[in-house]
Amino acid sequence: MRVLVITGAGVSAESGIPTFRGKDGYWRNLNPAKLATPEAFAKNPRLVWEWYRERRQRIRSAQPNPAHQAIVKLAAHTDEFLLVTQNVDDLHLRAESEGQRLSPDKIVQIHGDIFETRCSRCACSRREPEEEDSNLPRCTECGELMRPGVVWFGEQLDLRKIEQVDNYLTRPSCPVVIVAGTTAAFGYIIDLALRAQDPDGQLIEVNPDPTPLSGFATHLIREPAGIALPRLVDELLAR
Ligand code: OAD
Repeated sequence: MRVLVITGAGVSAESGIPTFRGKDGYWRNLNPAKLATPEAFAKNPRLVWEWYRERRQRIRSAQPNPAHQAIVKLAAHTDEFLLVTQNVDDLHLRAESEGQRLSPDKIVQIHGDIFETRCSRCACSRREPEEEDSNLPRCTECGELMRPGVVWFGEQLDLRKIEQVDNYLTRPSCPVVIVAGTTAAFGYIIDLALRAQDPDGQLIEVNPDPTPLSGFATHLIREPAGIALPRLVDELLAR
């Protein structure tokens, strides 16, 4: 079996991580233009860092949920597997199934990694999985301000990551494409799901609410990912 899974914030919702556009999502109360753009960072880096550090802390204390675990199980039992996640948290990587974790070459964090701190000028970067102090981080090489290693509004996706996804898609198409917990607000997410899908295959959406992708899906599962994905994975593996 050859599988592509695409996930968004809804998959981490049951771990207590807020979504962006869902109920009580970040963008319902906060303005992304003030927190998640290069201009916001240039204007008020302290405010941006405070928000990202709060999010980091919340993610550190969170645990992967059954949706993350089901995806690891699916990866472990399929010949070819790729997970493209918009989530910047590390819950997909920390999740375990049958004592195994997802191998890092099977996941592409298309919007970056919230625990990466990288220089806004040079190539310097580090990972900060442990709690850090509240100073504004400066690059030890060039002295410039460091920033979170995530993709902000108005920024390009990382070309190496696009290449990794494209490489997976140049091989024969996927009989099973699962899109879970995303509003599919970005055209490239819909495009990716449609490019990957085998014409005779399944495009399965897991989301309690309809999205712009729903009309293209062959199967709609209107349930929380933590309930739907473990069952779906068992069904797929039983075939
Ligand atoms: P959104 O917040 O836009 O969408 C979350 C989706 O999850 C919604 O469609 C909800 O209906 C659904 N949902 C909520 N709870 C769920 C559950 N328990 N199980 C399954 N689905 C559930 O999040 P994304 O689509 O991931 O960008 O947002 C895409 C990007 O927009 C994010 O990566 C972020 C944001 O700005 C960056 O950080 C660059």
